[in-house]
Formats: sequence, structure tokens, C-alpha cells
Amino acid sequence: MILKVRRLSKSFGGLAALRDVEFAVAPGEIKAVIGPNGAGKTTLFNVVTGLLKPTAGSIEFAGRAIAGLPPARIARMGIGRTFQQPQVFRSLTVLENVMLGAHRGGHGGLVSCGLGMPAARAGERHLAEAAREQLAFMGLAAGADRIASELPLGKQRYVEIARALATGARLVLLDEPAAGLDETETNELHDLILRIRDIGVTVLLIEHHMRFVMSLADNVLVLNFGAPLEEGPPQAIRRSRAVIEAYLGAAVDA
Ligand SMILES: Nc1ncnc2c1ncn2[C@@H]1O[C@H](COP(=O)(O)OP(=O)(O)OP(=O)(O)O)[C@@H](O)[C@H]1O
Ligand SMILES: [Mg+2]
Repeated sequence: MILKVRRLSKSFGGLAALRDVEFAVAPGEIKAVIGPNGAGKTTLFNVVTGLLKPTAGSIEFAGRAIAGLPPARIARMGIGRTFQQPQVFRSLTVLENVMLGAHRGGHGGLVSCGLGMPAARAGERHLAEAAREQLAFMGLAAGADRIASELPLGKQRYVEIARALATGARLVLLDEPAAGLDETETNELHDLILRIRDIGVTVLLIEHHMRFVMSLADNVLVLNFGAPLEEGPPQAIRRSRAVIEAYLGAAVDA
């Protein structure tokens, strides 16, 4: 297992956003986390990536305990992520955005990698090469020099995914990557995620788009009010009475 989460809990004051969440992700797996709004899905990603410290529980990544470590450290260990609201650096180009990922340092990387500073030119060239490789993989090479925030939403999500991959991540966490995409973009994203898996990167994704999730994921974890409700392959999840009552009935109607 590349990721093992045990008895993970996170409370905000009196609100238990995660309650005894347990699951594991196998290397090369595409695993989905679904559940109603407010079920704790994003909180789970925030705790796994170190943005939030868990109230209790353990998280193991590639055999190492990571719960409570700082986000930059967890990123360097090989977990990349995207955000529910795409977070591209607005005034930077697509290439520069992805270079920040290639630096692996995350947000603080801009200064220390010396973008534009002569002394760091060689390092910068290396980062640019790594970033261009990611952009080519994602079919974004032609847009490398555009200002990232001027791209349509779907492409901004791609920039974020490219940045996460450029860290050299072995596991990427995608928070609602299909939200706001049209059907063509959603199908493209579906194929892209399969290709990401094919290059050896494990994928954990949150999604509300059921057809997308059910055709893409090997396994699905359902959260409800912060607690695991069901876990299994898509066919089993679709048939689960508990899941239909808590979530799928509403999701299918919507
Ligand atoms: N930083 C925070 N401080 C206080 N409460 C929070 C914080 N982050 C999340 N919550 C609360 O925790 C609960 C779970 O939120 P979370 O964002 O994880 O849900 P979600 O499953 O991602 O929902 P959605 O599908 O709407 O994105 C919600 O009740 C939310 O209001
Ligand atoms: Mg969320």
C-alpha cells in the first residue's frame, strides 16, 4: 500500500469533520472519495497533505509516518495535489506555474529557485525543461508562455495537475478535477488521469461527477458526515443501499 490511513479524525472546535476514517491506496490504483457536500473530503486531503494537523490517527505514505508533518516536507516525500478552487499564480505564465512544482518547494520556491537570477540560471533551465516535459505530457505545450489565469478553467486545472506532477509526485490528490468542465473536457480529463496512472503515479481523487468516477476509479471510498460509509469497487458502491440513501439517490437526481 502506498497510502495507509488509520483511525483518522479531525475536529474544528465541536465539529467532527473526520471521524475514524480508515482506508488504504494500492500503488497504481485510481481511488475516488465521494460523499455529500460537507462530508469531509477536502478536509481529508488537507490533513493528508499537511495543511491541517489531524486531531487523532495515523497516515503512512510509502511506509513512513507523515501525519502532522509540514506540507512542504510531505510534498517533497512525493505527494502532490490540486485544489477544489484552482490555485494558479495569477500573474505567472503557465510554464512558470509548473516550474514552481518542479522546484518541489511549493510556494516558497519562487525566490529560492532564483527565477530570473543569473546565479541560478542552470538550475532554472533544468526546472524549465522538467516543466516543459510535463506540459507536453498534458498537451499544454503550446500554451506554455500564456498567463495562467487567462486560460479557461479546464486548462487552469491542467496547469495545477502539471505542477503537482512536476514535483515528481508518486501520489497525486485531485480535488474535484472535473468540476465546471464541459463534456469534452471531462472526457479528456478522464483519459489524462488514465495516462497519469500509466506513467506510474497513483491517483486519489474527489469527485461529484458520478459517471466520471464510476468509469474511472478502481475503488471508491464514501464519506458521510466525516465517517467512512462504504468502500469498494464502483459496481458494489452503486448497489449499496447505505450509499444510495445517503448520497447516490440525490446525486443521480441532481
Ligand atoms: N478550516 C476549517 N475550519 C472550520 N471548519 C471547517 C474547515 N474546513 C472545513 N470545515 C468544515 O468541515 C466540514 C467538512 O468540510 P469539507 O470542506 O472537508 O467538505 P467536503 O466533503 O470537501 O465538501 P464539498 O463537497 O462541499 O467540497 C464542513 O462542515 C466544513 O464547514
Ligand atoms: Mg470539498
